[in-house]
Amino acid sequence: MRGLFFTCEGVEGSGKTTQLRRLAASLRHAGQPVMETREPGGTSLGEAIRSMLLMTRDQEMAAEAELFLYLASRAQLSRECIRPSLEAGIIVVCDRFADATVAYQGHGRGLDLRRIATMNRVATGGLTPDLTILLDLDPREGLRRVKARGQVSLPEPFLDRLESEALEFHDRVREGYLHLAREEPHRFLVVDATRQEETIAGEIWQRVEPLIGSWAVQGERR
Ligand code: TMP
Repeated sequence: MRGLFFTCEGVEGSGKTTQLRRLAASLRHAGQPVMETREPGGTSLGEAIRSMLLMTRDQEMAAEAELFLYLASRAQLSRECIRPSLEAGIIVVCDRFADATVAYQGHGRGLDLRRIATMNRVATGGLTPDLTILLDLDPREGLRRVKARGQVSLPEPFLDRLESEALEFHDRVREGYLHLAREEPHRFLVVDATRQEETIAGEIWQRVEPLIGSWAVQGERR
């Protein structure tokens, strides 16, 4: 495939969305074609699934049902947006992807990791990011940030269904991500997310810039 595929992962409140926006802006500034998207979501089907996943509070959702909903959103996004963009030579930056299911539904919920790997391959048709940025942060600090940015008009900070999980769940998610990063050190860039936004963005750009340089050279040769 001709494009490049970057994903960003991390626990709640780790600053992924901010960093991805900055990365996309830097890429555009460098003259590169970029498509930004997110999971769950990114397509109209995916956004409908996202609100089911995050806003359903009035009934228990079975872990397996949750798994299938994330996978359904991913299957649609992979086929409708990511693949066609990569084939058109565009850089895709995606806020969460298949690793999130390993971390949250696998390590967090305790579903079988091997089965999840197989299902992820089915959902994505074998798509793997060229680079995954992992913003590593203690979930205590992440959740504190999420609560602090809550709407001031509400008496309690609003937390979605996943954010409302117990701290131990979020600790397992963080460990799950770090485990993935240790398994695939070449694909992952692990970034300490306790630092200033600017410093983190600089570290990410240091890793991305040479990648797009060699990618552009290969493109010229084709
Ligand atoms: P976010 O926009 O804050 O990343 O919200 C997505 C939520 O969904 C977040 O709590 C992580 C969770 N999630 C999973 O549990 N499994 C997945 O596969 C994905 C993509 C997200």
